[in-house]
Formats: sequence, structure tokens, C-alpha cells
Amino acid sequence: MRPHLSVVALLSPLLVHAFELPANLQSPLDSLKHGLGSLRDGANLDSLYHNFDALRQKLEMPAFVKQFTDPVGASPLLSLHRDLVRIESITGNENAVGTWLVEYLTKRNFTVEMQPVFGEKAKDKVAARGGKVSVASDRFNILAYIGKNRTTRTLVSSHLDVVPPYWPYEVHGQKISGRGTVDAKGSMATQIRAVEELWENSEIGEGDVAMLFVVGEETGGDGMVVANNLGLSWETVIFGEPTELKLASGHKGILSFTVNAQGKAAHSGYPDLGINANSLLLPALVALDNLVLPSSKTLGDSTLNIGLIEGGVAANVIPAFAQARGMVRIAAGSPEEVKDTIVQAVNRTGVEGVKLEFGAECYGPVHIDSDVEGFETIPVSYGTDIPHLHGDHKRYLYGPGSILVAHSDHEGLTVQDLQDAVRGYKKLVREALNPSGGKGVVVVEDVGGEGDRVEGEVEKEKDKVEGEQEEEVRVVEGEVITEEL
Ligand SMILES: *[C@@H]1O[C@H](CO)[C@@H](O)[C@H](O)[C@H]1NC(C)=O
Ligand SMILES: *[C@@H]1O[C@H](CO)[C@@H](O)[C@H](O)[C@H]1NC(C)=O
Ligand SMILES: *[C@@H]1O[C@H](CO)[C@@H](O)[C@H](O)[C@H]1NC(C)=O
Repeated sequence: MRPHLSVVALLSPLLVHAFELPANLQSPLDSLKHGLGSLRDGANLDSLYHNFDALRQKLEMPAFVKQFTDPVGASPLLSLHRDLVRIESITGNENAVGTWLVEYLTKRNFTVEMQPVFGEKAKDKVAARGGKVSVASDRFNILAYIGKNRTTRTLVSSHLDVVPPYWPYEVHGQKISGRGTVDAKGSMATQIRAVEELWENSEIGEGDVAMLFVVGEETGGDGMVVANNLGLSWETVIFGEPTELKLASGHKGILSFTVNAQGKAAHSGYPDLGINANSLLLPALVALDNLVLPSSKTLGDSTLNIGLIEGGVAANVIPAFAQARGMVRIAAGSPEEVKDTIVQAVNRTGVEGVKLEFGAECYGPVHIDSDVEGFETIPVSYGTDIPHLHGDHKRYLYGPGSILVAHSDHEGLTVQDLQDAVRGYKKLVREALNPSGGKGVVVVEDVGGEGDRVEGEVEKEKDKVEGEQEEEVRVVEGEVITEEL
């Protein structure tokens, strides 16, 4: 049974008041759901609500009515953000959100290219983290631009994937929460709206700005590594990640490591017959946990996290094998120097049977340009796709929301954050196309010479990726063109 809409329209405001719910962004229908949800028999009412909601979305209502019944839907920015967040896109499963976005951008007259991102490596990595993996070849990056000229002076870029687990999109008053609302669909939605608005106002045209949305940022950047094969370069690239609407001045590098200890199994009653791998591992871990690593004025201390320890099979068995995994966030110095420090620290314990391995994806501290007037600057501690994109472009890192909530179960931001970010991105694009010769360049110290090493790592990654079959699919004004590369 579907109650007539007029009944809902009549009842909703009364219910909003009855339950004293915030009426700002929460439409009466949402309020109705929240109010009724607290009553018994929630499941039936929930399905009733979804019927209303489906009906509401089908009806073409005049704007002034829509403002009231569906304030998020009435806003091009908020609805774009909502639609992106509602489609789950945990790393490896970016197909649905990518497909939706291709359609969105095509409808708005952008020329859209889909660049496939294959790679068993990515698949394994995602599976190892317990993520869901769709067919690897379903994954693609999206490049969108105005007109026919794919070579643009400026690029704005962010990522399609989010970390697990999925949290649904919710609006409470002015606050919007859910997985990806901040990292990085807040950046994506505001970048897209910024470019649309600049185009609508004829501030930009063909050859000025392209948008690149990549897969796999959260697990090592396989999407961005493949984006190097687009055959494009830019004067300026504006990366979107949560920076609290400030311009990031730099971020730490990363180095991951594994400590393996090899022992010999035996009955715990006869320890002399075995070698306890856990006991071998412990001194190394204590040494690493107490390690002092280089620091820098701008990025602070390098930090080392022992994130995972595994060893043994049962309480009454001498363990034959033990392993610990960790990651260093490098604030100063090179990954090579940090590796040396770690190797020496483990060696100094004097324990035999302990082996160190280092992850292939490592890079030193990353310098980011932050020379645009009118923005506060901030150093950040998280990794980004910046070191994965080749070229000597100027680079900015900016976006709404805080990294402090980004991977948590209370990921969220405010309507104001999103609106401010659209203004911020427009300003950055204008600056990129028409540099005012900004003053006060903040240079991150101890960064010199890191570029080469980063490139080296990326080249290696690229070679692996290039070994696999690649084809490029382009959508030009609704038409799909497939090209073998
Ligand atoms: C796209 O282009 C067509 C043809 O020029 C135009 O009629 C339409 O309004 C445009 N759509 C948007 C969203 O700009
Ligand atoms: C495309 O745009 C770029 C950058 O604005 C410009 O240098 C180039 O000449 C343009 N190419 C064509 C074919 O118009
Ligand atoms: C530490 O390094 C020295 C010199 O390379 C080597 O002889 C020694 O075996 C190492 N000790 C351990 C416990 O790895």
C-alpha cells in the first residue's frame, strides 16, 4: 500500500515538529523516517519510507517545492556528493561509481575517456585486506575534458575508491556523514562542480582543465601509476584529498617492512628441542619500537608503527615462525637511510634467525606547492597519489574535511565545507591558468633529491603494469570508442 503523497506532505511538517528534528537539510520525509524509526515495527515503516522516497525521486517537482521536500536533491553540489557516496566503491570495487560518473560527466557535455586498470597485484592486495574484488578488468580511471582537446594546461584529480567498511550516507542538520563523504568524494564532487561552474561562466574552455579520477589510491596507487600512460603532461595538477580547506605544504614519505623470525617447532614441555620464533622476534621489535628516526621542522617526526604481529600456532607449541609488519612515515631523509637505520637496529640485537624485508613501494617526504595567497597552509602525515604521477608539474593538495575522521566510522563534513571547497578549487584553477606569481613559497626541508628515487619506484611499477594487455576505451558524446594501446 502506498499512501498518497498529499497525505505525506500534510503530515511531514507536523511530524518534524512533533519529534523536534533538525529541519535544515533533513527533508520532512527523512525526518519522518527518523521519527518513525524510533517507534516499534521499524522494518515495515522502513520499507514504507523507501516507497515514499522512490516516489519522491520520480516526481518532477517545482524547484521551490523540491527545496522543501528534498533539499539535498535540489542542490547540484549536494546531490552530486550524495550520489557518489551512496555507491559503495571500496578499493577493487570502483566499477559502479565509475560507470555512474562517466554517465554524469557525459550528460554534462564533457568528453570522457575510460582508461582500464588491470593488475592481479591490486586484486591480491585488496583480497588480503578483506575487500571485495570485482573482475580486475572492470576497473578504470576516468579522464574528462571540454571539447576535443585532451591536452590541457591544468589537471584536477582525486580518487574513486574508499577504505572499508561501507557506511551509509546520512544527513543530520548541516552535517553529512558516510564512507567517502570526506575521503575523497568530498573532493571529487567539489572539483567537478568547480570546473562546471567555471565553464558555465566561460572562465575556462577547451585546452584549459581536465579532470582525472583514479582507482586504487588507498592501496598503493595502481590507478595513478597507470594514468602515466595517458601520454599527457600538465603545467599544474591540483590533487583532492582532505586538507581542512588548507593548502598542504608537504607530506611524509612511506616505507613498509616485515620482520621474519625462523625457529623450530617442539612440545612446550621440552623447549630445549626447539627454537622459539616469538622469542627471536621480540628483541627486534623492542629495538624498532624505540628507534629514533629523523625529523623535520615542517613535517615533524618520522614515526614507526608495528601494525601486525603473528607467530605460533598454540599455547603448548614452541613456535617455528613469527612475523611482524610495520610502516614508517618518513618526515626527513630518504627511504634508503631509514632502511639502513632499521637494519642496523635489528643487527645490534645480536639475535640470529631474524630477517628483514622492505616493501617495494617507498618514497621520501613529498614537497607540495602552497604559494597561493588567501590559503592557510598545513603539513599532512598521510600518503597520496602525488608521488605516483610523473612530470615536473606544479602540484597543489587541497580538499574539504579532515583526515582525522577520514578512515573512521564517523567520517563526515558540513555543507559549508563543500561549498567552501568549490570556491577554493575555482580559485586554484584560476591561479593555475593565470599565475599571480604567489609569494611565500613554503619549502619542505630535507626533501632534495627524493624525486629520483620516487620516479625509480614508479618506473618499476609502470613496467609491471605495461606488461599486461591494455586497451583504452573512450566515450565521446555518448559514442564509445575502443583503442588498443
Ligand atoms: C550540452 O550541449 C548541448 C548541445 O550544445 C546543449 O543543448 C545542452 O544544454 C548542453 N548540456 C549541458 C548540461 O550543458
Ligand atoms: C590543446 O590545448 C593546449 C593547452 O591549452 C594547447 O597548447 C594546444 O595547442 C591545444 N591543442 C589543439 C589541437 O588545439
Ligand atoms: C650484524 O652485522 C655483522 C656485519 O655485517 C654480521 O657479521 C653479523 O652476523 C650481523 N649480526 C646479525 C645478528 O645479523
